[in-house]
Amino acid sequence: MNVYLDYAATSIRKPDAVIAAMTDFIMNHNANPGRGGYERSLEAGRLMLSARQTVADFFSAEKEDHVVFTLNVTMALNMAIQGLVEPGDHIIISGMEHNAVYRPVYALAKEGKITFDVIPTSEEGLTDPADFLKCVRHNTKMVVFSHASNVCGSIFPLREVVRLAKERSIMTIVDTAQTAGVLPLTMEDVDVMAFTGHKHLLGPNGTGGFIVSEEAARRMKPILRGGTGSLSHLASQPEFMPDKFESGTINTVGIMGLKAGMVHLQQLGLREERKKEMTLTDRLLEGIREIGQVKIYGPSDLELRTGTVAFNMQGADNAELCYVLDKQFGIMGRPGLHCSPLGHQTLGTYPEGVMRFSVGSETTVEEIEYTLDALKQIGEKL
Ligand SMILES: Cc1ncc(COP(=O)(O)O)c(C=O)c1O
Repeated sequence: MNVYLDYAATSIRKPDAVIAAMTDFIMNHNANPGRGGYERSLEAGRLMLSARQTVADFFSAEKEDHVVFTLNVTMALNMAIQGLVEPGDHIIISGMEHNAVYRPVYALAKEGKITFDVIPTSEEGLTDPADFLKCVRHNTKMVVFSHASNVCGSIFPLREVVRLAKERSIMTIVDTAQTAGVLPLTMEDVDVMAFTGHKHLLGPNGTGGFIVSEEAARRMKPILRGGTGSLSHLASQPEFMPDKFESGTINTVGIMGLKAGMVHLQQLGLREERKKEMTLTDRLLEGIREIGQVKIYGPSDLELRTGTVAFNMQGADNAELCYVLDKQFGIMGRPGLHCSPLGHQTLGTYPEGVMRFSVGSETTVEEIEYTLDALKQIGEKL
């Protein structure tokens, strides 16, 4: 049996509709959108517009032209942070950040351009909005946070912190890498909602982007400049959306797949999917607990977590455990630090890391039981 439990890294199989949409585009519609006046280029442009509309609908955003496509969420977050920051700014980040946020912010601080604070975070990976307020200074420009931890699944109190930030004119940048396609998300007062296509949104690699509020779009400088197919006679970057932030040829084939992935999820119903995944996560957590001599990290309350489960087995090195699970049982998970040294420091698992399982749209009860049985066998041998 092969069991894939690494959805936090990527969704391994894409729905047939995703593959069909990509094949159809490359075979029948592939041309550079906005770069030609002939029908096929115009048609590619219309398809991109429709994909933008799907993304806007998915995140309940008002304007599809404020959807900007990038290659992944890392690129989107870098563009947003570096485009909004000014010398002397103060930035707040959560205690569970992935390096996609931590490294760009740390680099800005190291260059002496900004200062930053990390919100004190509990050992379960949870944040109290009151602790966000304690970090606010007179020059706080933005708060950047991952909506859920990719290490232990803890969910950040997005709505409360966005409200508190808005009241203080602090901008909010949200990394939805672990929640887009898992939890219902609405743009509302968020300034930048960054997403990646290849994880729970079921799209291919090389897709992602951000949705930006009108105010943030006005204030954000473009980090990439270049050809947009518009205002080509000008040396300066267009100021209108999305061209202000979309230079160079977009991964149109991938975006067609991403659009199909989002439509597929909408048809399944996010709330039903979440219910199913959390039932499986509950059983996974319970089964791991029963094995004994195992420490589980992250919230025990299912409402406060996603299907990403972190644990360590006493006496087992997590890299070796991962190796044995794969080689002997065909179970795929991920050990180590998960590109999140900050998150591991918060959980007290740095530098050893943890073993991580993450359930996703195709995980089954049988796979969970099989995995628990494998862990039990390994535990008995230890
Ligand atoms: C919370 C979080 N942020 C950012 C990323 C980076 O995603 P990508 O590699 O698609 O840019 C990941 C991927 O693991 C993640 O889990």
